[in-house]
Parts: sequence; C-alpha cells; structure tokens
Amino acid sequence: MHKVTFKFENSEDIIVFAAFGESLLEVARKTNVAIDAPCSGNASCGKCRVKLVGGELESKKTRHITDEDYADGWRLACVSAINADVEVLVPDIASAYRSRMKVADLSSPEELKIFSDAKEQILEAGIELKNTLEILNISMDQPNLDDTMPDNERFTRAIKALTGIERIRVPYSVLKKLPDVLRESGFRVKIIVRKIETDIFVYDVFPETEEVIVGGIAIDIGTTTVSAILINMLDGSILAKGSSGNGQIRYGADVINRIIESAKPGGKDRLQKAVIDET
Ligand code: FES
Repeated sequence: MHKVTFKFENSEDIIVFAAFGESLLEVARKTNVAIDAPCSGNASCGKCRVKLVGGELESKKTRHITDEDYADGWRLACVSAINADVEVLVPDIASAYRSRMKVADLSSPEELKIFSDAKEQILEAGIELKNTLEILNISMDQPNLDDTMPDNERFTRAIKALTGIERIRVPYSVLKKLPDVLRESGFRVKIIVRKIETDIFVYDVFPETEEVIVGGIAIDIGTTTVSAILINMLDGSILAKGSSGNGQIRYGADVINRIIESAKPGGKDRLQKAVIDET
C-alpha cells in the first residue's frame, strides 16, 4: 500500500492508503476528495488536473497538459496511477463542484412570480388544484373499567362515526404511537388522512392541540442541478424551496458519462450516494 496525500489551498491535508496501480481519480473519489471530472475519467475533458508536489506518480502524458505544465508537476488524475507514496495538490478549480453544491434560496420575488403566474394559468385553463388529504379532529370516550375497548378499535370506530366510511386503514407507524398520543391528549386527536369515498388511510396522528402542517415535496433531479419545493398540501402555499448542484457531476458532466460510470463496478452505488447522501 502507498500513502497518498491530497493537499488543498485552503484546507487540511487528506491522507489515505492506496494499492499499487490504483487510479488517482478513483482514490480521490473513494476518499470524497472532490476533483472535477466532467468526462468521468476518459481523459477527454482535461479538467481533472492535480499538481504532483511530492513522491511519484505514474502518469501518461496527454494533449491536455503542455510540456511546460508537465515539467511543473501538472497531471491528469484520471490517467495517473499510484506506484509509490505521493503528494498531490488539488487546486481550487478542481473543487469547483463544491461551489455548485451550495443550496440556493429560490424565493426571490421573480421566482415567486413565475410560480404564481403558472398557478393562475393552470386555474384559468380549468384545472382544479386539489388533493384528497385532510386533517380531521377526532374525540373518543376515555377507557374505564366498564369500557375496555382496545385503542385501535376505539380509534377506528371514532373515524367511522365521523366520516361514515367503513374501510379504515391504519399503518403500523400510526398504531405504534397511538396509545401514547391518545393518553397524552385526553383522547382528543388530530389525524392526517387520505380520504376517498370508500376508504380512509391514516398517515399520522397528533394531539388535538398540536400545530400540524401537511407538506408535499417535489424534487427535480437534473444532471447539473437538483431542485426541490416543499408545499402546504392543504392550501398550495410554498413552504420552502431550494436547489443545489447535483453531486453526481464529479462522475461526469452529462448523462452519457454517468451511464458509463454506472456500468463500472460499484458505479450505480457511487452515483446513488452522490445524489442521495451528498446532494
Ligand atoms: S480528463 Fe480526466 S476526468 Fe476528464
């Protein structure tokens, strides 16, 4: 194993051990060192430049590095293999994707106007913005020695009595918290349901006094940017919006290079981790 030291202009070194012959770009990716690699290691974009500042690195010379730069220590990480202990400087420009990862607030007046205009046009076109989610208040008799009905039965009976709907579905996540919530609230609760004519699904239960927001989230996963919007499902108002660079960018700037990456061993997991965990 060889010691690989990644140096940065504005942060502390990252040290890792790598096997002989491993690609420097792969080592960087495994270690979460951000090196821009729009062509995903195909040696065609010339963006994965790092500077050799100590030790040795087996690097092919490519058209992207001039003789002068090569003599100065510049190498492409994707065509460099570990053959000894090495120290490389990762320039800030190579970490450009980090700046693209910043979460942006999209709540400028212009942004909000685009949203409200679109909403108006939808309504003008006769499309109704609605859904089947509701908040219902339910109150039940408290159990006593003469009334020992189990909590779940008491709960579903109360929902039936209020709505007239026979089929009530209560998932385990709600059943699990039900006894505590019922006792904490004196058997007066607020439930979030999806209600259709023949069926009610209970998403959650809270004490009657608790402030509850029913949020819906829409996420647009773009090649470059991931945007998300959180809305109040009961009145359609925007609760929060944000966007961030897609962390998958270091595995290729476009869809073709991401497809190439996904076909490599472990590629799908790396792409998934980049978009779910990092972004
Ligand atoms: S040239 Fe190395 S990632 Fe593109």
